Amino acid sequence: MAVVNYRVISGVARIEIDNPPVNALSQAVRAGVAEALARAAADPGVAALVLSGARGTFSAGADLHEVASGEAMAPPLASELQAALEASRKPVVAALEGHALGGGLELALACHFRIGAPGCRLGLPEVKLGLIPGAGGTLRFTRLAGPEAALESLTSGVALTAPRALELGLLDAVAEPLAEEALTFARAAVDEARPLKLAAQLKSRLSAGTPELFARFRERLAGRLRGQLAPALIVDCIEAACTQDAAEALARERAAFLRCRDSEQHRALTHLFFAERAARKVPDIPPGTEPLPVRSAAVIGAGTMGGGIAMCFANAGIPVSVLELNAEALERGLQQVRRNYAASVSRGSLSQGQADAALACIRGVTEYPSLAGADIVIEAVFESLPVKKDVFAALDAVAREGAILATNTSTLDIDAIAAATRRPGAVVGTHFFSPAHIMKLMENVRGPRTDPQVIASVMALGTRLGKVPVLAGNCDGFIGNRMLGFYGLEAEFLLEEGATPEQVDRVMEEFGFAMGPLAVRDLAGNDVGFMIRKNRRLPADERFSPILERMVAAGRLGQKSGRGFYRYEGRTRIADPEVVALIEEVSRERGIVRRRLGDEEIRDRLLAPLVNEGARIVEEGIALRPGDVDVVYVNGYGFPAWRGGPMHWGQVSGLARLIATLERLAPTHGERWGPSAALRRAAATGAFGRAP
Ligand code: 3HC
Ligand code: NAI
Repeated sequence: MAVVNYRVISGVARIEIDNPPVNALSQAVRAGVAEALARAAADPGVAALVLSGARGTFSAGADLHEVASGEAMAPPLASELQAALEASRKPVVAALEGHALGGGLELALACHFRIGAPGCRLGLPEVKLGLIPGAGGTLRFTRLAGPEAALESLTSGVALTAPRALELGLLDAVAEPLAEEALTFARAAVDEARPLKLAAQLKSRLSAGTPELFARFRERLAGRLRGQLAPALIVDCIEAACTQDAAEALARERAAFLRCRDSEQHRALTHLFFAERAARKVPDIPPGTEPLPVRSAAVIGAGTMGGGIAMCFANAGIPVSVLELNAEALERGLQQVRRNYAASVSRGSLSQGQADAALACIRGVTEYPSLAGADIVIEAVFESLPVKKDVFAALDAVAREGAILATNTSTLDIDAIAAATRRPGAVVGTHFFSPAHIMKLMENVRGPRTDPQVIASVMALGTRLGKVPVLAGNCDGFIGNRMLGFYGLEAEFLLEEGATPEQVDRVMEEFGFAMGPLAVRDLAGNDVGFMIRKNRRLPADERFSPILERMVAAGRLGQKSGRGFYRYEGRTRIADPEVVALIEEVSRERGIVRRRLGDEEIRDRLLAPLVNEGARIVEEGIALRPGDVDVVYVNGYGFPAWRGGPMHWGQVSGLARLIATLERLAPTHGERWGPSAALRRAAATGAFGRAP
């Protein structure tokens, strides 16, 4: 099948990229475009060209499988196509709809003109894959839209809407129906003999690229994107686009692109890109299983999570009822939702109109019968099995036949909750993360009796709500929280042995977490962490450090009491000698001679238990694939994406070393800390997998 279609319509050659599913620029596409360009150039009956994409989308850019192979691209290269486009004496118009991303947009930027459909999205998202635009994007985007817009867009990778792209000069027109309008535009360019615009040669916007602009931007990035290669190189290339001639800037971009392509960060982020897409697929759901329609929803509990979950539905335009039995509690919850929307409006992330439309989707109710019409009901009441069982029994009595009955529990047994109903097949976990309207992860949990159609439905719902859905099996803590338990406990063991809170947090922040484990504890509340620990179903011989309990007893609850593992002035954390004294006291009681711990030991001791438990989770089939564990950790727990997630990081950094670390922990910490059979097998075979 042709991957590039060619047709001449009234003197205009229409070159259409047709490479399902996303019109990626594979070698065959590049060859097809090159051939079509040559054909149009040679045909005296062709006066102008339109470059477009089939099936409602332009192109998602380079073929990621080809880029990930790490091999030199087979010719023709994107740069050769661009040279042909720029050399064309006949006007070339790019017609953009759907997505024009990465190398796709770069191809369009080398055309003389660009016209977009109103709903099209233009972007250079390479940074999200640990890359920089490698086909002239840093040069042409900067020269068309100016350095300020280029810095924002290219370092975030966020795509622009058509109106914004028009405003910035990336588009010459926005019109529909696109196919006809592009032909009209091309003919007008010929009839009016419009000058052929070469983005690479434009200079008018470059005066904004002052040394101060770049210095300021680098300073801003330093905190936000610490440790990442691509964003810093993007800034260098945009500066080169302002200060060097086009050929020099392109050479610099090429070198930087190759450096990124060969980097571990790019491999990690590409792994995650494909892992997120794989995670949406559940192999044992019968083919052809249709998700149940979700036209309306309900949430039980308007607390921290219930309010946020209701916002997720409202943001997707799905009407949602929120139930609290007590009218005052309901009003408190809805008030918080209104405050959240107001904050989004004042931050500029939502317009007032969007916030109003979302709020109009949310309805507060105080009686169970009001939930009778909902297609899905998500319970988000206190984390207590008896309470949740009561709620599900009440829900069972009113919910319509065929409704999905979901729980947001973070640890409890889905099967036990399902047993409180007469329809255990309808019961499933939908575990959102706090703040629910912001965090991307939706860890769906299937009980042993959950109906496959219900599973398919909550996976599809996740994508519809803009979340990253991952399926987990039913066990204490599922994927994420089961692993997290080790991380939290180990942070305190490290303190007992000689580390300070600042050191532990610094090491993990340098690793790439936004906050270290103890700063996170202070944020969430040490009393909350202590209560969760007490309620977990952990083995009786599990050893804890008493540090957390002492902190709570000393009133050091965290940020909310102004004192926790740190002292707080506002949100600024300040090392506190009183905490060190409290920790030293614990070390003394336990007969531990404190010592200096190296940063690498701290990192490995915090992360090896995650990899170890992750290996067990994959082997038991709780996670369907190791990549699912990575997707959970990156999207729900702040694990740095550019490290690829704990399983990917473990393999890259060396499982043998992590096994040795765990062997040293087992004698003092207990059985569960020793290297699992699953981890040893992964080290021997080179891959995590199900039990043989
Ligand atoms: N290359 C190869 N396959 C791609 C691809 C690409 N660039 N983009 C998407 N796909 C595949 C996905 O893996 C998925 O495959 P699957 O069905 O087997 O799982 C399929 O296309 C559909 O993708 P999505 O499920 O993501 O579909 P959506 O409709 O949700 O999203 C999209 C579409 C917004 C285009 C999204 O796929 C996306 O963001 N793609 C990546 C875009 C990108 O990063 N482009 C830059 C590439 S690097 C580059 O161009 C370098 C250049 O500067 C030299
Ligand atoms: P919360 O205490 O903020 O809210 C619970 C709400 O449920 C309260 O408003 C309460 O009045 C209401 N409620 C209690 N019993 C009820 C009943 N029978 N009927 C109707 N409403 C009732 O709790 P939070 O933090 O929102 O947690 C809710 C659930 O989400 C728990 O299962 C928790 O484990 C889980 N979770 C919490 C996360 C968090 O970070 N807070 C993250 C992920 C999951």
